[in-house]
Amino acid sequence: MQALRERLGARRREVVAGRREAVDRQHALGKRTARERLELLLDEGSFTEIELYRRHQAHGPKLGGHRPHTDGVITGSGTIYGRRVFVYAQDFTVFGGSLGEAHAAKIHKVMDLAVDNGAPLIGLNDSGGARIQEGVMSLHGYGGIFRRIVQASGVIPQISVVLGPCAGGAAYSPALADFTFMVRDTAQMYLTGPDVVEAVSGRRVSHDELGGAGVHGSQSGVASFVYDDEADCLEDVRYLVSLLPGNNLEPPPACPPCGADSDVRPRLAEIVPVEPNRPYDMRLVIEELVDDGDFLEVHEGWARNVVCALARLDGEVVGVVANQPLVLAGVLDADAAQKAARFVRFCDAFGIPLVTLVDVPGFLPGVDQEREGIIRHGAKLLYAYCEATVPRVQVIVRKAYGGAYIVMDSRSVGTDLSLAWPTNEIAVMGAEGAVNVLFRKELATAADPATLRAELTEEYARQLVHPYYAAERGVVDDVIDPVQTRSAVARGLAMLRNKRREPPRRKHGNIPL
Ligand code: COA
Repeated sequence: MQALRERLGARRREVVAGRREAVDRQHALGKRTARERLELLLDEGSFTEIELYRRHQAHGPKLGGHRPHTDGVITGSGTIYGRRVFVYAQDFTVFGGSLGEAHAAKIHKVMDLAVDNGAPLIGLNDSGGARIQEGVMSLHGYGGIFRRIVQASGVIPQISVVLGPCAGGAAYSPALADFTFMVRDTAQMYLTGPDVVEAVSGRRVSHDELGGAGVHGSQSGVASFVYDDEADCLEDVRYLVSLLPGNNLEPPPACPPCGADSDVRPRLAEIVPVEPNRPYDMRLVIEELVDDGDFLEVHEGWARNVVCALARLDGEVVGVVANQPLVLAGVLDADAAQKAARFVRFCDAFGIPLVTLVDVPGFLPGVDQEREGIIRHGAKLLYAYCEATVPRVQVIVRKAYGGAYIVMDSRSVGTDLSLAWPTNEIAVMGAEGAVNVLFRKELATAADPATLRAELTEEYARQLVHPYYAAERGVVDDVIDPVQTRSAVARGLAMLRNKRREPPRRKHGNIPL
């Protein structure tokens, strides 16, 4: 037995160590190995590996005599802050992390385990894509991953971390996941590589210009989080997991309440200017609202005119959706609507209450936006709010005009509690625009149109553009002192904690995709 045990130990050590020169090359590329990454991601000593000895049974070129253990992916389970997660980490040092039949089967198995055990799945991607020598079996393997991601969507949180190449069909794993992390310079995602792009379009682009973290974090919206460094990236994956339930039947992980329900924040009265057109940073409002001023912003670099963030409020996890007056005056455009819609649906799927902070002048007008499909994309956000059954609190911070008001979790689309600051302006449009439409003829024939316009504007604003008009009609539940926003929202969420609303039975709705 002793000899067998020693042989087992030696064999295991050899497989775990990997090929020295391949590991050195990985380090030279500025990347960590799959095992080093798992050490950073998981609680120390918590990783249980499965299928270490698995190897391919294929016979393609450069494969027959070369059958390394693991087949280029490390799979198993561990904990993050003591909570169970399932993981796979592609190992670029083995066949460039490329995905063949055995590699895919290992990922399928760990995905099934994650669903069966109701725990988040985290995939670390660093791969040359479909293993060319295994032909259709590689493609078949990818299909099995995609089908599993879709079936597990809304059941367990799925996180994709791109730490190297992620080319071709492989890019659909991150695209289908709930959250996608990327690291600058070393990670790239694209469907067709630079050579094919050049052959087809004649345009020479680098891997990074085509699908680097800059592109996906700020232009395409594929990456939800972008980092300069793998260690920071994996640390934030841990932070994200600490805010998520294991599955859709579990409540999000709560901390003990911290007295938010009586917390007064004087700074809130100073951050937001009373003048409706003066910009300010909505993130400062969020900082005052949430516990320890701490929040995890999703898609920080994309569609920055809306802010989506996960945070805690009085110990409970909440999803915050907020217009950002610092960028494009906080208007909603096609990207912002898509970003917020996806976030709202994630929160709804996993029982995370929504807090919506409204300061929106409207939808971005323009030929480009209409052609880009702002109607279709705006409808996604509308749809997402209309179907959300989690507790929902709306805070109208300053202005809320037109269709954008309706979309931003208004009473009519189902918010549970609507609170307004006294700075508030809710109306079909601003006073001056309204007067120009309503009194066009009178203004055209007036002896002194400027004075008449000023009078009519003042009268319109006095009658309609204030929160009490909405509060008298029950569209707003309360007008609150800004300094009491944190306590009012905390109390609102406490009131709604046991909210249960079952959507009608149907196969699924038909969200305008
Ligand atoms: N299938 C089989 N082997 C692959 C592979 C794939 N898809 N991608 C990479 N490899 C292998 C390489 O042959 C190489 O093997 P070797 O060490 O025995 O020479 C090893 O992985 C490392 O790849 P290499 O090309 O040297 O790394 P790189 O960092 O210079 O480039 C890529 C990385 C991903 C840009 C490059 O490997 C590539 O273009 N791969 C093909 C991508 C693709 O078209 N995939 C199919 C689409 S789904």
